Formats: sequence, C-alpha cells, structure tokens
Amino acid sequence: MIALGAGASVVIYQYFFVGQINLIIIIKDIIISFITSLLFIVFVNTLVFKKIDKILTTVKVFRSQSNGPMAHSKNNTDEIELLQSEIMALADERKNEIERLKKLEMYRKEFLGNVSHELKTPIFNIQGYVLTLLDGGLEDKTINRNYLERAEKSVDRIIHIIEDLEAISQLETGELILEPERFEIITLVKEVVDAEEMRATTKGIMLNVPGNKPVFVYADKFRIRQVLVNLIVNSIKYGREYGETKIALHEMDNMILIEVVDNGLGIAPEHLPRLFERFYRVDKSRSHDQGGTGLGLAIVKHIIEAHNQTIRVTSKEGIGTTFSFTLTKV
Ligand SMILES: Nc1ncnc2c1ncn2[C@@H]1O[C@H](COP(=O)(O)OP(=O)(O)OP(=O)(O)O)[C@@H](O)[C@H]1O
Ligand SMILES: [Mg+2]
Repeated sequence: MIALGAGASVVIYQYFFVGQINLIIIIKDIIISFITSLLFIVFVNTLVFKKIDKILTTVKVFRSQSNGPMAHSKNNTDEIELLQSEIMALADERKNEIERLKKLEMYRKEFLGNVSHELKTPIFNIQGYVLTLLDGGLEDKTINRNYLERAEKSVDRIIHIIEDLEAISQLETGELILEPERFEIITLVKEVVDAEEMRATTKGIMLNVPGNKPVFVYADKFRIRQVLVNLIVNSIKYGREYGETKIALHEMDNMILIEVVDNGLGIAPEHLPRLFERFYRVDKSRSHDQGGTGLGLAIVKHIIEAHNQTIRVTSKEGIGTTFSFTLTKV
C-alpha cells in the first residue's frame, strides 16, 4: 500500500512539476518505498510485538500462579486480543482474591471477638465469686464452699474452651497427625452411649444403638470417639424431653455410613449452611444455657475431613435432626 502510494505521488509530481513521466524513476521509487515499508513492518513486528509478547508472558506467569485457564494465539493481531483477555482475566482474579482476603479478615476479627466474648463470661463469674469471698464471704459458712465450687465450674469452662480452641488450631494448621488403626465401630458407639447414659436419662431421652454384627473401620479411634461424643451430646442437649436418639449404621461397598438421628428441636434451613462454622450457634441463649460454645461441630467437621471423609446434616424444625458421616470399612 505504501509502495503504491509512493508510486502514485511520484507520477503526480512528475506530471505537474516536471511535465513528463519517467518510468524508471517511478519503478525505482516504488521499489524504495516497498523496501522501506517492508523494513518498517519488520521493525514493528520485532520491536512492538516483542514487547507485547513480553507483557503477555508476564501476565501469563501471574495467571499460572492462580491456576486460571490460559488462551493461545495463532498470529499477531490475535496476540493483542489475547493480551487484552488475559489482562481482563487477571483483573477478575485479583478482584476475587481481594474479596477472599477481606472475608478472611472479617472471619479473623469475628473469631477474636468470639474468643474474648466466650472467655469473658466465666472470668467475670470467677472474679465475682472471689471478690465476694474476700469481702467477708470466706467466713460465711453458708456460701463459702458453694462460691468456691461455682468458681471451679467457671475454671472448668475456661479449660474446656481453651482445649477446643487448641484442637481446632491443630486441625487447621495440619499439626494434628491422625493415628489410624483398625477397630470395631459398634463397640466404640456403645462405649460413648454408656458414658452419656446419665445425661440422657436426666432428660428422659432413650439412646438406641445398632445391632451386634461387628463392623471394622480404619480411622483414628480417639478422634472418632470425639466426633461421636459431640454428635450424641448435641442430640441430647437439643433433643426434646422423653425423646429418642438413634445411632444407625449402613454398610456400603468399602465404606460405612454412621447416622445420629434425633427427634428434637430441629434446625431451620437458613442455619444449616453455617452450622459447622466455629462459634456458630442456632439459638445462642439456649445453647449457652447448655454450656455450648459452638466449637463442637467445627471440630467434628475437621476430624472427618482429616480422614478424607464427609459429614452431612439434614433437619426439619420440630421433627428432628440427622447427622451422617462416612468411614472406611476394613
Ligand atoms: N442435634 C441438634 N439438634 C438441634 N440443634 C443442634 C443439634 N446439634 C447442633 N445443633 C445446633 O448447632 C449449634 C452448634 O453445635 P456445636 O456442637 O458446634 O456447638 P455447641 O453444642 O453449642 O457447643 P460445644 O459443642 O462447643 O460445647 C448448637 O449450638 C445448636 O444450636
Ligand atoms: Mg456440641
């Protein structure tokens, strides 16, 4: 195009100013223009597209770190479009990343707030009892022992919260190494049920255990006991008086599904997605009356996931709740 343009302008110049058209000069000018434009194109290609290529490579390196899908180009014009789409994708990823970090920051603040709130109550209780005892209560035989016992209960509560927090942080940082072994699960369920029998009886709740056919699983026995304790204790705490908790086992190919079913209060659907979050409680005052911190299910979920298994909850308000998790059968 440039060469043709140059040729045409030489013809016009010669016709108007020189008065005649010299074919050799025209051809010479066209060749010079052609070579010049060719050099220009090569220059643009090597310099500009090399720079675009460098930018594209840098963007791709950034994107590969976030594992986003990468596009490929066939020619230079595609290259510019590709760069544009890669930059847009990078911007999108960065936006998502910032949102994720903001959410994490919110969780962190919420977590710290929850920890201090949970610890405040027993600490203030202890302070109250100790001050009353120092103010003369120590000599008052009707209250001194009772207040000391109450203070001790609050100390127990603090220890319980700290132990749960420790367990969560160990599970989250991967510090906690599972110690899996082959054991019979129904025997373990029965042990936990026996240990919680008293708690259930005071509420008139019946605990039903599965049949006698032994089922062997491969898991960390101590941790699975923790899971069963929390699920069974929850079913009693949030169960109805004179209700029932059933523990059922369903054998599948190479797995076993364990269900803890109660006919208690049930949980409204809007609470279900957040149930396994740290400190999440459906009915804060009721749960608090039961001595609950809202850490139990978070620990349960971590333990089950550390076994590469899953836990699910289904519930209907006023009807009851079912927690079910899987374990590897051996
Ligand atoms: N079987 C159940 N029926 C009804 N609600 C339940 C049941 N299990 C758990 N919940 C609800 O889920 C919340 C979270 O349970 P989670 O076990 O994490 O905490 P918690 O029992 O309150 O305290 P913690 O287990 O730390 O002592 C409970 O506060 C309760 O509101
Ligand atoms: Mg609990």
